Amino acid sequence: MALRSLVSRKTLGVGLKLQFRGLQTFTLPDLPYDYGALEPAISGEIMQLHHQKHHQTYITNYNKSLEQLHHAMEKGDSSAVVKLQSAIKFNGGGHVNHSIFWKNLTPVQEGGGEPPHGNLGWAIDEDFGSLDSLIKKMSTEGAAVQGSGWVWLGLDKESKKLVVETTENQDPLVTKGPLVPLLGVDVWEHAYYLQYKNVRPDYLKNIWKVMNWKYAGEVYDKESS
Ligand SMILES: [Fe+2]
Repeated sequence: MALRSLVSRKTLGVGLKLQFRGLQTFTLPDLPYDYGALEPAISGEIMQLHHQKHHQTYITNYNKSLEQLHHAMEKGDSSAVVKLQSAIKFNGGGHVNHSIFWKNLTPVQEGGGEPPHGNLGWAIDEDFGSLDSLIKKMSTEGAAVQGSGWVWLGLDKESKKLVVETTENQDPLVTKGPLVPLLGVDVWEHAYYLQYKNVRPDYLKNIWKVMNWKYAGEVYDKESS
C-alpha cells in the first residue's frame, strides 16, 4: 500500500482545526486512496484536479466567508450577516458534499462496485425492487440535473425509507428534508469533463464500478437503528 494511503487513512475525516481566537477553519481531507486508483472509471487527472483544486477552493472560500461572518456578527451588522448566507451555503455545501463523495468511492481491488450486503441490500430490494433499478434511477435522475448538482441515495430519518433525491449547485442533501446521505454522486462537469467530455451518462454508467457500497451500508446501519 502506498505511503500516501497509509497517511490518508489516519487523517481522513479530521479536516478541521481550531484557531487561537476560537474561529474554526476547515482543511482539505486526504483521499483514502491514490489519485489514479479509480482508473479506468475515473482518471487520476480528474481526481487530482477535483480534490486539490475544486474541493480546496470551496474550503478556502468557506473559511473566508466564516471569518467575514464572525466580523459581521461582532459588529452587529445584520445585512452583512444575511449577505454572507449564500456564500456559506455554496462553499460550505461544496466542502460537505465532496467530503462525502471521496468516501463514496473506492478502488475495485478494495471492493469498489461490490454490491451492498446486509441491511442496506435488503432495504434497496424493498424500496426500489433491485440494485439495478436503483442504479438506473440514480443514473437517469443524475443525467437529468440541469446545470450542476448532485444525485443522492439518502435515508429518510422519519419514514426510515430510502430515497433518491437531486440537489442543485452545492446544496447538501439536508436542504431537502430529514435525509441522511448514504451516497452522493457529483454531476458537475468538473467531475467528468476531462475524461467523458460532455457525455454525462457515460460517467454515470462507469462510476458504479468504483462505488463504495460498504461505506453506504455502514452509514445505513448506524442511522437506521
Ligand atoms: Fe465536484
